[in-house]
Amino acid sequence: AKSRTFTMIKPDAVENGHVGAILEKISASGFKIVAMKMTQMSKTDAENFYAIHNERPFFSELVTFMTRGPIVAAILEKENAVSDFRTLIGATNPSDAADGTIRKLFATSLGENAVHGSDSDENALIESVFHFSGREIF
Ligand code: CMP
Repeated sequence: AKSRTFTMIKPDAVENGHVGAILEKISASGFKIVAMKMTQMSKTDAENFYAIHNERPFFSELVTFMTRGPIVAAILEKENAVSDFRTLIGATNPSDAADGTIRKLFATSLGENAVHGSDSDENALIESVFHFSGREIF
């Protein structure tokens, strides 16, 4: 059955002009975009979105990075959306990411890694509702 995942094109990839190329790769890989917008997270937004990481040494760096400019948030639909999208984006650290993956092609560093992909169906729903209201989801 079709399922959904949540993604953000992060500030580094927006700044570097990769939005179009990343969306093209997402579409070419069989994902249907069912919600999408450009937005910028506040400090509180980022602290809440990444609350699970709040004890990590990189937490403040992550919040500063994710709030420094606009992102493109989207909800994607496909069979096995969560797992297939994580394959498409590649490993968290772009230097470990497989050839052809979005992070290998477009990420800057471990911290500035171009895209987010939900890690479970449950988190995909939580993250989607964090960014989108019901009438923004199609
Ligand atoms: P993501 O997996 O999408 O969500 C958590 C983010 O934290 C991760 O992408 C990276 O952007 C960031 N991150 C993970 N590990 C580190 C690290 N060691 N240093 C800086 N940022 C990190």
